[in-house]
Amino acid sequence: MHKILFATSEVYPLIKTGGLADVAASLPRALLKLGQDIKILLPAYPGVLENAAMTGLKDIAQVDVEGYSVSLKQTRLPGTKVVVWLVDIPQFFERPGNPYCGPDGNDWFDNHKRFYVFSRVAELIALDRLNLNWQPTIVHCNDWQTGLIPALLSLHIKRPASVFTVHNLAYRGLFSYQAFAELNLPAAFWHHERLEFYGQMSFIKGGLVFADYLTTVSPSYAQEIQHPEFGCGLDGLIRYRNDAIAGILNGVDTEEWNPGTDPHLVCNYNRRTLANKTKNKLSLQEELGLTISAEIPLLGFIGRLVNQKGVDLILAQMDQLVSQDCQLVILGSGLPHYEQALRKIAAQYPTKVAVTLGYNETVAHRIEASSDIFLMPSIFEPCGLNQMYSLRYGTLPVVHAVGGLRDTVFEETQ
Ligand code: ADP
Ligand code: GLC
Repeated sequence: MHKILFATSEVYPLIKTGGLADVAASLPRALLKLGQDIKILLPAYPGVLENAAMTGLKDIAQVDVEGYSVSLKQTRLPGTKVVVWLVDIPQFFERPGNPYCGPDGNDWFDNHKRFYVFSRVAELIALDRLNLNWQPTIVHCNDWQTGLIPALLSLHIKRPASVFTVHNLAYRGLFSYQAFAELNLPAAFWHHERLEFYGQMSFIKGGLVFADYLTTVSPSYAQEIQHPEFGCGLDGLIRYRNDAIAGILNGVDTEEWNPGTDPHLVCNYNRRTLANKTKNKLSLQEELGLTISAEIPLLGFIGRLVNQKGVDLILAQMDQLVSQDCQLVILGSGLPHYEQALRKIAAQYPTKVAVTLGYNETVAHRIEASSDIFLMPSIFEPCGLNQMYSLRYGTLPVVHAVGGLRDTVFEETQ
C-alpha cells in the first residue's frame, strides 16, 4: 500500500474545464478501491468551497507560505470516500472565472505565483512539515500547474518519489524571466536543462526534468511527443527521459457515464434496450429545434473550441455536411472566432445545426446518448474521453488516428 498525494488543478465534480478533471476524479477513486491510501490536493476555488460545504469541510492546518496565509481544509469527493485537501489562499483563488483565467478569458496575471505557492504547499505536505500525521510515499503531479512540485522536491535528499503525468503537452506553463525572478526558486533553475525554455520559464519542464517517473495518457501520445510534430519544442527532453516514461491509457468512470443509469437522459438504455436510445435523440431534436426524425443521422461534437479539437476541419466541411440529409449538434466553449462561426451556421440552418455555447454537463450527456455518430477530428489528442463515452453509449465515434483516439477506436476488419 502506498500513500499517494495526487496534486491537480481540477477535479470533477468540484471544478472542471476539461478531461483532466474527469481523470483526477476517476483515477484516485480506482486507486482507493485497489487499497491505496490516496489524497487529492486541489486549490480552493470559490465553487469548490461551495460544493464542499455540502459534503462537509474542516480546517486541518494553518501555515504561512511565502508570506501568504494558507489554510488547508479537508473534504471528500462528493459521493465517494476519496479525501480531498483544499489549499485555501483567498488572494489567489477567491476569484470569479475559471481556474486559469478571468471572466474576460485572459489568463490571471499572477498564475505563476498562484501555482508556485500551491506547489510549495504540496512540497510541505510531501515532507511532512504540516504535522498532518500523514506523509506520502509518492507525489503524483498532473500538468504544468503542478510541474514545480517535482522541481521543489528535488532540493531535498529525503523526499517521496514523484510521478508527473502529461495530460497535454501543448500547455507548457510559460512565463517571463521577470516572473521567474519573482518566485523564490534557486537561480540554478534558470538553465535550459532545468526550467528555462528559449528565454522563458516553463512550469511543465519542472515535471519533465525533475520527476522520478513520467507518464502520459495514452501509449501513442507517449511516442508522438518524442517527435518534433507533437513535441511542442520539448521532444528532445522527452527523448532524453525515454527510459522513465510510460503511456498509460486513461480509463473512464463507468458509473458516471452509464446509459443504463445516467440521470441526465430522458430515457435510460443498455445493450438489450438499445431502441430506447432513439427516444433521447427525438427529445434532443425537439429541445434544440431540429427536424424531429429517427432516420436522419445525428452527428455530435463536444469539446473545447480550440485548434486542437479540429474545429477548423468541421467548419471546412460544413457546406458538404449541410448539403446532406444529416444533423449536427455541437456543444462547446472556447475561442471567440470559433464561437461566432458556429453561431452563424446554426442561425443559417436552424433545423439542421444546433450549437450550444458554454459548459453544460447535462447537454454533454444527452449529446452522447442521442447522437448516431460522434465527431472527434482532433489534430492531436493525448487521450480523449468523449470517444470512450461514445463507445459506452452505443454512438459511433469517427476520429482522427492520433494519440489516444488511435489507441481506443479500432476499425473492425473481417
Ligand atoms: P480535453 O481534456 O482536451 O478537453 P477530453 O476528451 O479528455 O478533452 O475531455 C473533455 C471533457 O470535458 C469531457 O468530459 C467532455 O464531455 C467535457 N466537455 C468539454 N466541453 C464541454 C462543454 N462545453 N460542456 C460540458 N462538458 C464539456
Ligand atoms: C487533456 C487532453 C485529453 C485527455 C485529458 C485527460 O486535457 O487534451 O486528450 O483526455 O487531458 O487526460
